[in-house]
Amino acid sequence: MSTHRVPSTTRRAQYSPDSDRRADAPSSPTAYSSESGRTYQLDRLIGKGGFGEVYLATPTPGPGIPTQVCVKISDRISGWLREAYFAELLAREKRALRVFDRFVEAEGNHVRYCLAMEYAEHGDLGAWLEREGAQSERFVRREIAAILGALDSLHRGHALHRDLTPFNVFVCEDQQLKLGDFGIATHQLNPRGVTADAFNVFHVPNEIAWGRVRRWQKRDDIYQIGLIAAMLLRGDITSPMRSKDVRGLPCSDHLKEVIHRCLGSRGKRYEAASELIAALKQRPQEAPLGRVKSLAGKRLSFTGFLERPRDEAIAAARNAGAIVQAKPGRGTDVLVRGRPNTLQIAGKDGGSKLIEVRRLAAQGVKVTVIGERQFWRLADTKSRRRAKKAPRN
Ligand SMILES: Nc1ncnc2c1ncn2[C@@H]1O[C@H](COP(=O)(O)OP(=O)(O)O)[C@@H](O)[C@H]1O
Ligand SMILES: [Mg+2]
Repeated sequence: MSTHRVPSTTRRAQYSPDSDRRADAPSSPTAYSSESGRTYQLDRLIGKGGFGEVYLATPTPGPGIPTQVCVKISDRISGWLREAYFAELLAREKRALRVFDRFVEAEGNHVRYCLAMEYAEHGDLGAWLEREGAQSERFVRREIAAILGALDSLHRGHALHRDLTPFNVFVCEDQQLKLGDFGIATHQLNPRGVTADAFNVFHVPNEIAWGRVRRWQKRDDIYQIGLIAAMLLRGDITSPMRSKDVRGLPCSDHLKEVIHRCLGSRGKRYEAASELIAALKQRPQEAPLGRVKSLAGKRLSFTGFLERPRDEAIAAARNAGAIVQAKPGRGTDVLVRGRPNTLQIAGKDGGSKLIEVRRLAAQGVKVTVIGERQFWRLADTKSRRRAKKAPRN
């Protein structure tokens, strides 16, 4: 089964009630489900895309199903099969659009694959944001955490959504966001991910858009969630959003740090929904300043503005026997922290090096952060000792 489809996310096919109903009218204004025995009166076309057409519909008999539902109709089996299957898998998830009925209708040679699903009264997130504009951090945190619950179930089942764009996240009653359009969702049989063969370049990490990485992984779903969080905060789905734009987002430093890790370098991105859920819950503690006895043999890196020129500090560190690294990593022992630069990605405590130290700490790798004063004390002690030992002429 091919996963290719017209990338659904470039197009915006929204139909208003004033659209020319005649032109939009389905060949048959009803759809009949031999599965449930219900007939769906197709009232209005509300979306059209790669998959097919989506109608607002009234089901009869009514009991056990909302009075208004969406009926999604396609000529092709592939997306329908995926949507029907993943809806079953996520049937208990409050934040995945419910699918009430799945059926196939045949009229002569013509087959229509149909799904009757929950109608999102506020439409897709793209349309809703255009109307409503930027959202508060409180809303963004709450709603992102909620849809991550559904994504976590998918990820725990080793499945990937692969199309988490604003057109596939829906705004339901009480402004609750829900995941929908599982038309290219798939299981991951290989831990390396699945071939990235169907996507829209505007909503995927650069490394995939540019073809450097050909495998879609859970962390790429996470990238898309990070992008959605940024779009919600900005109330804008059209402007490009790079990881360096995160510093301008109207939210707390903590949320900036989290979004930065979703959008930034692939190797440091949260690997799956569960990691992102944990990160959102965890308020960051400012990295406490630690102590070290000596710089000799220590792998050391600097961050922030230092009182003395950086070159001088690097030379002093080397002189004291330290190995200076451009940025901290797994093998780093010490990070010397100068005065914070408030223009950092995530504010005062959110420079990329401090973020990295916190990420390493979460993995059990300890990097001691020391202040500049302690650094100079250690570096100068060493040079004083050297000076003392040096033979006088
Ligand atoms: N359940 C729904 N409630 C409200 N609008 C919907 C619903 N399903 C689809 N739509 C509208 O139709 C568009 C296309 O539907 P979608 O399920 O994403 O199909 P496609 O596979 O064509 O992208 C959506 O972006 C949205 O505007
Ligand atoms: Mg879609």
